[in-house]
Amino acid sequence: MLSLGILISGRGSNMAAILNNIKNGVLNASVKVVISNVATAKGLDLAKEFGIETVVCSPKDFASKDIYEEEVAAHLKKRGVQLVVLAGYMRVLGPGFIEAFPNKIINIHPSLLPAFKGLHAQRQALEYGVKVAGCTVHFVDNTLDGGRIIVQETVPVFDEDTEDTLSTRILEKEHVLYTQAIQKLIDHNLKL
Ligand code: GRF
Repeated sequence: MLSLGILISGRGSNMAAILNNIKNGVLNASVKVVISNVATAKGLDLAKEFGIETVVCSPKDFASKDIYEEEVAAHLKKRGVQLVVLAGYMRVLGPGFIEAFPNKIINIHPSLLPAFKGLHAQRQALEYGVKVAGCTVHFVDNTLDGGRIIVQETVPVFDEDTEDTLSTRILEKEHVLYTQAIQKLIDHNLKL
């Protein structure tokens, strides 16, 4: 069974969707640890409700970003994590961390990449005026939201949409898509 480690910074609804799918037998994986860089992240409470071990690593407690990320990587390695799942983790990973898990880090982004990278992707989509939006699960490399795409899903954009309504429509798809992406990786032995 594939061992996952999930990194979060906030709400944790994608993390919860993955944990639900594991609980319901939809996804044959196990979450070894949930790590947050934010001590007050709501997702930490959710993870505990699922009985998952949680760890808080605050970057400010470390002398440098490299040392902080070494600590995070050590927590993951120590628990035998085979795939690192970023779920609303609001920090850009440094090269050291990425090299520690080559092709074993994935992220979900609320746009149809390569469009609308970075923050506020849904707002960017509305401002641009696209009529179709969506979400992407991709490998993490040294580029911002630029790693190889694993799966994507689309949603329509309506004239009356606000950032909130579009984000909610995309988020519903994210909750299904992230599990599909992990399942696809399991089916392909993590080699796409
Ligand atoms: C999601 O929209 C995800 O695509 C983006 O950050 C948000 C995290 O939401 N990377 P949640 O913490 O999973 O609820």
